[in-house]
Amino acid sequence: MARAYNFSAGPAILPVEVLEEAQKDLVDYQGSGMSIMEMSHRGKEYSAVHDEAIANMRELLGISDDYAVLFLTGGASGQFAWIPMNLLGEGQVADYTATGSWASKAIKEAKILGKVNIAADSSKESPARMPLADECTWTDGAAYAHITTNETIGGIQWKAFPDAGSPLVADMSSDILSRPFDVSKFGLIYAGAQKNIGPAGVTVVLIKDDFLQKRNEGVATMLDYKTHADKLYNTPPVFAVYMVEKVLRWLEGRGGIDGIQKINERKAKMLYDRIDKTDFYRGAAVPDSRSVMNVCFRLPSEELEGQFVKAAAAAGLQALKGHRSVGGIRASIYNACPTAAVEALTSFMDEFEQKNG
Ligand SMILES: Cc1ncc(COP(=O)(O)O)c(C=O)c1O
Repeated sequence: MARAYNFSAGPAILPVEVLEEAQKDLVDYQGSGMSIMEMSHRGKEYSAVHDEAIANMRELLGISDDYAVLFLTGGASGQFAWIPMNLLGEGQVADYTATGSWASKAIKEAKILGKVNIAADSSKESPARMPLADECTWTDGAAYAHITTNETIGGIQWKAFPDAGSPLVADMSSDILSRPFDVSKFGLIYAGAQKNIGPAGVTVVLIKDDFLQKRNEGVATMLDYKTHADKLYNTPPVFAVYMVEKVLRWLEGRGGIDGIQKINERKAKMLYDRIDKTDFYRGAAVPDSRSVMNVCFRLPSEELEGQFVKAAAAAGLQALKGHRSVGGIRASIYNACPTAAVEALTSFMDEFEQKNG
């Protein structure tokens, strides 16, 4: 079996062990004579999977009982709207940090629904970077402060989370489960699953009880966090949640968050060291802000970048083209990306430079 070295930004590589396990019980789940996709979401088999996925998430991230763990639909993009709809009240202000493409999309939705203060704006800077703590102007009594912990397109990451004075709300779509952090510092965390959690189709939301209590009245039932915090309201994306349960179990087997962080740091260092070794490659982000998940870099010309992507694909290194809005090269090296893939990429970078440098 040939598995590609897959550097896709998302939907991204899944652990091969998880895919194989899913393949085994696809047609007949635990002797039931049907797949997990074909049975009631209220039956005992699926309920056990759903509960286990939540328990694994709690265990891995150290989530206390005063947070609800929700498996929703509508993507992280849906959350851009759900958050102000539920949590930005009449006459209130929400702080947002403008750090790149994803934060900008969150800001656009919040502005449709309420009043927004841009606490810091580094979104137009090149090389890309996250704002420094003393560059942020937070609003006293803000409804919440929103950050995008990892900008998947710009390849930058908050290394320490800011203290905004109001409940912190974070889009962690592209770096959740990659490094330890203190959940209790956040009012709400959300992430599309398709990078570090599982397949596309499920959006994970962690919301703190006291923050939930502050939500607006009159939100449509399906879009109200409380509906989902209270009970399993409607049909969840059952297959995606089933895969999430397996990915989280796989992660536990790799030493949990502390274990995977060490592997992630090593992979990222290997790649950034190769970028910095010569002038042929140029990192797209300021070193202090460099993402451990999405490594973005440039070559001396767009023409060479095109050739690089093509030759890499021919050598089995897939999906290295940077996002169309910024160009360049992007290697997404999420939890499930094996170290061997990064080693293969750095060797390929050496060879490509020898031929074209
Ligand atoms: C940081 C970040 N936020 C939000 C999104 C949007 O996620 P979705 O496609 O699940 O709406 C993405 C997708 O790549 C992302 O990387």
